[in-house]
Amino acid sequence: MSISLSQTLHPSSANFRDDVIEGLGKSPRWIPCKYFYDERGSQLFDQICELDEYYLTRTELAIMERYAGEMADQIGRGVMLVEFGSGSSIKTRILLDHLHKPVAYVPVDISQDHLRKTAEGLRLRYPEIEILPVCADFTEDFGLPTTSRPPTHDAVYFPGSTIGNFQPDQALALLKQIVRLCGCGGGLLIGIDLQKDPKVIEAAYNDTEGITAAFNLNLVDRLRTELGVNLQQADFEHHAAYNSKDHRVEIGLISRVDQEVKIGDHSFQFAAGELIHTEYSHKYTIDGFAELAAQAGLTLHEHWTDPDGLFAVLHLVIVE
Ligand code: AVJ
Repeated sequence: MSISLSQTLHPSSANFRDDVIEGLGKSPRWIPCKYFYDERGSQLFDQICELDEYYLTRTELAIMERYAGEMADQIGRGVMLVEFGSGSSIKTRILLDHLHKPVAYVPVDISQDHLRKTAEGLRLRYPEIEILPVCADFTEDFGLPTTSRPPTHDAVYFPGSTIGNFQPDQALALLKQIVRLCGCGGGLLIGIDLQKDPKVIEAAYNDTEGITAAFNLNLVDRLRTELGVNLQQADFEHHAAYNSKDHRVEIGLISRVDQEVKIGDHSFQFAAGELIHTEYSHKYTIDGFAELAAQAGLTLHEHWTDPDGLFAVLHLVIVE
């Protein structure tokens, strides 16, 4: 079956080299976390989701399983559901199973391969829903596809606590973009990881099997194989610590030795112990997130959480 993609922007993987050169020149140094997810990285992330310490995925899934009916009632009839990020997950299917006469499902992802596979699977399973994948970076502007039947309204589904990867000002910008995309009457169903005992959070990012370390250190392999950088995983060490003041896990790679990193004509001098930031994972309170979202024009309507209050799924609506 051939799958048409409504939009094909250049996936940001094409900018890996430029982004690394720019990020390593910054102070502090950065490599954006979206580069974790090559094939190997995506496999490792799937393994992270199975870890005992990594409570996020299984908790969100349990919330979806338990409350998807209520969520569907809140979202309402005849929606065009736009998902930010990977759309193949079981959470999506739980939601689609419960939605009332949805008109279309629009997964937005930078990986064309992933989108194709997702779309194929979903078309077979949901023949009555138009599946309209959009290949785009959802942090950049993109348009929504046209549906054959008009939706009553649009809603964004943004699961996985991916919003936590953005700093509050960037998260606000993204929320504003969601408001522009969906317009009045639109909604947002979003998963957020909640603030809790820092020990629980830190354990989730420092698992005893070292899968999270391998996920982070996979970036070193990408630098070597894709950019020809003369580095080995052993030159760096995985780092993940909770910053209680800013309510976020700060993840990075620590240089084990003094070393020079060369990419083409660019050269970066690392001191032993120096950190390259690779990811922030912000943790919210429900009220704190509602306050942020209010600044974008979104009003919290309902939220669902697990008995231990680890994770929450929020439904917000656009009112103007
Ligand atoms: C996929 C963004 C939710 O912040 O927990 C897991 C990714 N990084 N372990 C997170 C991640 C390290 C992650 N999100």
